[in-house]
Amino acid sequence: MTTIQNRQQTRFLSGIQSSGKLHLGNYFGAIKQHIELQEQGDAFYFIANYHALTTVNDPERMRELTLDVARTYLALGLDPERAVLFRQSDIPELHELAWFLATVTGMGLLERAHSYKDKVARGIPAKVGLFYYPVLMAADILAYQSNVVPVGADQVQHVEMTRDMAGYFNNTYREVFTMPDFKVNEATKTLPGTDGQKMSKSYGNTIEIFADGKELKKSVMGIVTDSTPVEDPKDPETNVVFQLYSTVASPEEIQTMADAFRAGGYGYGTAKKALLERLDAYFAPARARHAELVKNPDYVEQVLARGALRAREEAGKTISAARRACGLD
Ligand code: ADP
Ligand code: TRP
Repeated sequence: MTTIQNRQQTRFLSGIQSSGKLHLGNYFGAIKQHIELQEQGDAFYFIANYHALTTVNDPERMRELTLDVARTYLALGLDPERAVLFRQSDIPELHELAWFLATVTGMGLLERAHSYKDKVARGIPAKVGLFYYPVLMAADILAYQSNVVPVGADQVQHVEMTRDMAGYFNNTYREVFTMPDFKVNEATKTLPGTDGQKMSKSYGNTIEIFADGKELKKSVMGIVTDSTPVEDPKDPETNVVFQLYSTVASPEEIQTMADAFRAGGYGYGTAKKALLERLDAYFAPARARHAELVKNPDYVEQVLARGALRAREEAGKTISAARRACGLD
């Protein structure tokens, strides 16, 4: 069995918000590499439900979405014997660590956060929690002394901010925190959604990982395309249908679609049908496991409870060291 006890190796840590059903951007930008990395070091992955409170205010929905992120990871291949899977809210001590970081961090750093600015520009209310979001995220990363944070490209700035906050604390007091690096999946930096913008739960432009039947068809057929006539040649690189197809099709299939677009006489409707078929097949086995897990909430709870114990033990060590460093012991 792998070695979550052995601290000689790289520790990976990442989180995903329980703010909606997970989508292809989450999978290809983050979850896929999370699952691959569980073979290569210690892996800690959590459901960022404290962060999700910045957008979800319905308690029933929060509970259901939190469980669903866990099921999604398990269905897609997370092995709870190798990786630690837990709920962020099972580690309430994080807020103490976040406060320590907040007291050494300048407002200017947070004011530069793209994600905050984008969300406010999209109409999400500018609450204090949304502004403070990167501080809590830094606490998540630093609490487990992780070295590598695998995330989608949109989260890189948050990891850089975490490095800044770790540096402020380490310089003000003493070296308590490990400096983390980010790791982006080079093949899928940012996956576009059905409207061509970044696919995101907060933007209503997602294709859900476990959508099937009519729902999947509706999302795929609803992808916005330009009005180039069927006969005309089209540039595959700039169209969303092709970009999504490239994540799930084989290299030969991708080449065939690219050639067809370039040659002309190949319409978006035909490409969408090909995408629909590939997507449906690609996720079919995981979808079946997900359906099984829906019937087995006790198992999912048990995995999360075990994960919480392990995560809490790690975070506890860091938080005690941080308390000592600033004279609160
Ligand atoms: P969302 O933007 O849908 O709320 P999260 O912010 O919870 O998703 O992101 C969870 C993880 O998925 C992060 O590592 C994020 O970078 C990644 N991710 C989200 N959307 C995309 C996307 N469209 N392309 C690539 N990665 C993404
Ligand atoms: N902010 C991340 C996102 O929206 C989720 C997250 C919270 C996270 N804490 C984290 C990711 C710590 C990596 C590490 O995607």
